[in-house]
Amino acid sequence: MANIKAIATLFFTLTIFSYLSPKASSLTPEQEKQTLLQLKNFWRNPTSLQSWKDNKKSSTTAHCNWFGITCSSDGFITNISLPNQNIYGPIPDSLCNLTNLTHINLYNNSISGQFPKSLYNCSNLEYLNLGQNYLVGTIPSDINRISSSLVYLSLEANNFSGDIPPGIGQLPNIQSLILNNNLFNGSFPAELGQLSSLQTLWLAYNPFTPATIPQEFGKLKNLRFLWMTKANLVGNIPDSFSKLSALQHLDLSINNLTGVLPSEFGKHSKLWEFDVSNNRISGELPAGLCAGGTLTSVVAFNNNLTGRLPDSLNHCVTLDNIQVYNNKLTGDVPSRMWSAMNLTTVMMHDNQLSGTLPEKLPWNISRLQIANNRFSGKIPSTAGNLQVFEAANNQFSGEIPGNLSSFSRLQTLSLRGNQISGGIPGSISALRFVNILDLSDNHLSGEIPAGIGSLPSLTKLDLSGNELTGEIPQKMSELKLTFLNLSSNQLSGEVPAGLRSGAYDESFLANPGLCSPSTVLNLRACGGQSAGKNHTSVALILSFVFGGLALLGTALFAIRVIRDYKRRIDRIDLGPWKLTSFHSLDFTEERILKGLTEENLIGSGGGGQVYKIVLRAGEIVAVKKIRNSKKLDSRRENEFQAKVQILGTIRQANIVKLIACISNGVSKLLVYEYMHNKSLDRWLHAKHRSESRENVKLDWPTRLSIAIGAAKGLCYMHNDCNPAVVHSDVKSSNILLDDEFGAKIADFGLARMLVNANEPESVSIVAGSIGYMAPECGYTRKVNEKVDVYGFGVVLLELTTGREARDGGDEGSLADWAWQHFQDSNQLIDGIIDDEIKNPAYVHEIETVFKLGILCTGKTPSMRPTMKQVLQVLEMARFRSITRIGPDRDFLLYSRT
Ligand SMILES: *[C@@H]1O[C@H](CO)[C@@H](O)[C@H](O)[C@H]1NC(C)=O
Ligand SMILES: *[C@@H]1O[C@H](CO)[C@@H](O)[C@H](O)[C@H]1NC(C)=O
Ligand SMILES: *[C@@H]1O[C@H](CO)[C@@H](O)[C@H](O)[C@H]1NC(C)=O
Ligand SMILES: *[C@@H]1O[C@H](CO)[C@@H](O)[C@H](O)[C@H]1NC(C)=O
Ligand SMILES: *[C@@H]1O[C@H](CO)[C@@H](O)[C@H](O)[C@H]1NC(C)=O
Ligand SMILES: *[C@@H]1O[C@H](CO)[C@@H](O)[C@H](O)[C@H]1NC(C)=O
Ligand SMILES: *[C@@H]1O[C@H](CO)[C@@H](O)[C@H](O)[C@H]1NC(C)=O
Ligand SMILES: *[C@@H]1O[C@H](CO)[C@@H](O)[C@H](O)[C@H]1NC(C)=O
Ligand SMILES: *[C@@H]1O[C@H](CO)[C@@H](O)[C@H](O)[C@H]1NC(C)=O
Repeated sequence: MANIKAIATLFFTLTIFSYLSPKASSLTPEQEKQTLLQLKNFWRNPTSLQSWKDNKKSSTTAHCNWFGITCSSDGFITNISLPNQNIYGPIPDSLCNLTNLTHINLYNNSISGQFPKSLYNCSNLEYLNLGQNYLVGTIPSDINRISSSLVYLSLEANNFSGDIPPGIGQLPNIQSLILNNNLFNGSFPAELGQLSSLQTLWLAYNPFTPATIPQEFGKLKNLRFLWMTKANLVGNIPDSFSKLSALQHLDLSINNLTGVLPSEFGKHSKLWEFDVSNNRISGELPAGLCAGGTLTSVVAFNNNLTGRLPDSLNHCVTLDNIQVYNNKLTGDVPSRMWSAMNLTTVMMHDNQLSGTLPEKLPWNISRLQIANNRFSGKIPSTAGNLQVFEAANNQFSGEIPGNLSSFSRLQTLSLRGNQISGGIPGSISALRFVNILDLSDNHLSGEIPAGIGSLPSLTKLDLSGNELTGEIPQKMSELKLTFLNLSSNQLSGEVPAGLRSGAYDESFLANPGLCSPSTVLNLRACGGQSAGKNHTSVALILSFVFGGLALLGTALFAIRVIRDYKRRIDRIDLGPWKLTSFHSLDFTEERILKGLTEENLIGSGGGGQVYKIVLRAGEIVAVKKIRNSKKLDSRRENEFQAKVQILGTIRQANIVKLIACISNGVSKLLVYEYMHNKSLDRWLHAKHRSESRENVKLDWPTRLSIAIGAAKGLCYMHNDCNPAVVHSDVKSSNILLDDEFGAKIADFGLARMLVNANEPESVSIVAGSIGYMAPECGYTRKVNEKVDVYGFGVVLLELTTGREARDGGDEGSLADWAWQHFQDSNQLIDGIIDDEIKNPAYVHEIETVFKLGILCTGKTPSMRPTMKQVLQVLEMARFRSITRIGPDRDFLLYSRT
């Protein structure tokens, strides 16, 4: 009995001892199983660990078959592999009680906390992957205490910060060090160069303090893959890099590297991939880049490289991808480069490269971008997989290959600005996927083949600046283009109906023979299709008959005019239409562009044209098309876009909803909700104009509620928007009326910003329209929301007097006129108030509003009331609770001076 007790006590003591001992001898398999169950519990039983269950009947090593667990042959856990398992929480200190662990993979979970130092206890650890987790803090400086067997360490995509400690250079067997995508904002140590086994070093995407690459890295004799994209590198790539004899993949893109690439680079290793794009590297590409005979990828765009492409590319049969655009490379492209059978991507645009393209491009090539160089010769005749072919602004000549079915996968074809002649082949209809077709500024002649009209994917078509003749094929009406330019050709006849859209008003210019029955196109009207032709030919014959020397002069003059005109058109970069929308839309920009037809035109004026477009869903929108004859400079463009953004997000009952803005280089389309009763001015002033007057008269209560609605809209813009928005062009034509005469404010000076774009800075761009412009706009750019109060005051005067804003007779503007008459007469009703609303019941209200108008149009901004005060007065007037309100006469007299 005593013996048993003694044994029991001993056993107990041993157990305790084994629990407390820091260098615990290994657990039994059963204890390891219990450790796993504790681990599951610690991580709060994630669903992915459901299979981790103990069962009385199961063997002691049953856990070796649990999900993610691998054991050694004698039943000890060696491998915990649980990537992508939605595990939350830190790593428990007990994990390394599993002393035989060699592999821990917890990649892509939600592991949190600091770097777990308890992992130092896993003395057999070879592989540790904690990438894609939520770890924070620094890598501990004693990281060298981790298992000396460690071969693989990944901490990528966590939130580690600070320095990478020098101690990391003492991991004797490490082969892969994966530390990219963290928040390391300190330094990385030169000691990394000591890691003689290192094969993979990833430090990319860390905000290190700017540093040069240490010379010591040249000692990494086993390094195969160095990835240091966007790591704040500066200075030179060290010469020692040429000696990296195992290097296969080097990526140093997006840094501030300068000086020159090591000249020996590529000669001493089997280089595969090379990326130094987006730096400030100058000098030449190393001559021996492909000397290893394995190079697949050369990426060096956006640098300052000069000289020729390396000769070694001539026998670089493995080459697949070359991207050297935006440098200053010169000379011929090595001609045998084009025989690399795996070549898929060639991006060399924006250099000064020359040479010719082979008759047959490599079968695999899908992207060939060589615009803005000096290539010459003919366009290849076969390229079975080519999707993007951009060769604008080179010196290609000859004709477009007759059989374009060998280019059937093309999506973009741009040959702009070459010397290509001949016709556009009918086989162009084989380009079923082509989206952008730009053949402008060549010497193409003949007619436009009708087949162009059946290209189902085409959205951008530019044939401008050629010598094309004949009529525009009817079939082109079926295209859904966001950009069309046929200008500066010799096309004739009538523009097909489907293309007569305001969206294309620049598309047909400088084709003397073209005409259109619609005025939206800026073309002469058709005098019958054939008459137009006859006219030209008669004129031609006549000029030949009576020509002589005078004709020569005229012809030379005409050529110059046309050339200048062409230049002018060339300078205007139309660009495709782009849509910015603020509401979920049931339409595309094409739908709007197609709707800019003459039938839909409902108004035009200084600011531009307004179209009413019925969308498929039965929804109606109003589209205001504003053309600024010049591209906005970037500051004004930003100002405009900022205002559009604000307006696009406002939802207020008295502000017209801006649904979208569609713009190209020179025009903007503002898509608004459609307002059935159009603008206030049409109702008030139709009698002064030729427009047919709307039937209903606006009685006083309607006018007052319009004033209140508009005031609410302005009040909102001044007080509830952050930052406050000044309209700067308040006028009765910017107050729109819905079907129940509810008032909504429109435009917010957007049109004016564009119309004034040509005027010099010094001219205030906030200046309003004639008759509505506050006096301070004339002398200062620093205006505030009181300019809107002024404009609104004029609207109040219009509502009460029925006169137009600029209609002040000898006194000048309406505001001056009203002021003069108010001073001269005590009886407002006589000669001032609009006849149509003279009704004794409203006299007091009308008087109040008139006086308010005078107060709002005071010369001194600070003396004008705020929109909030204006709104209060108007609302009080509506309730007619006060017979005589507002400022008295003396105050008004004072405010006017
Ligand atoms: C660790 O386990 C995972 C999956 O359970 C397996 O893919 C991997 O090869 C294992 N590693 C070792 C060294 O046994
Ligand atoms: C991470 O795991 C989730 C599933 O838990 C998966 O959907 C996601 O794609 C993984 N992310 C990465 C980067 O592997
Ligand atoms: C496991 O490790 C933890 C912490 O290191 C320790 O407190 C515990 O006693 C150990 N458990 C066993 C069964 O050895
Ligand atoms: C497991 O670990 C123990 C203690 O560290 C060791 O004695 C044993 O040899 C290891 N077994 C294996 C298969 O590595
Ligand atoms: C394991 O690591 C922790 C933290 O570093 C340490 O306090 C503990 O003594 C170690 N336990 C064992 C069993 O080695
Ligand atoms: C990690 O850093 C990112 C970016 O700074 C931050 O948004 C995120 O909240 C951080 N996560 C943790 C767990 O610290
Ligand atoms: C390069 O340096 C400039 C100026 O020092 C800095 O603004 C820029 O962010 C740097 N670019 C990169 C990619 O580090
Ligand atoms: C490119 O090199 C030229 C001189 O060749 C130099 O003037 C220019 O500043 C360099 N540009 C950059 C971005 O380094
Ligand atoms: C071309 O690519 C294929 C597939 O990647 C590869 O097997 C072949 O070796 C490559 N050919 C050359 C000449 O590099």
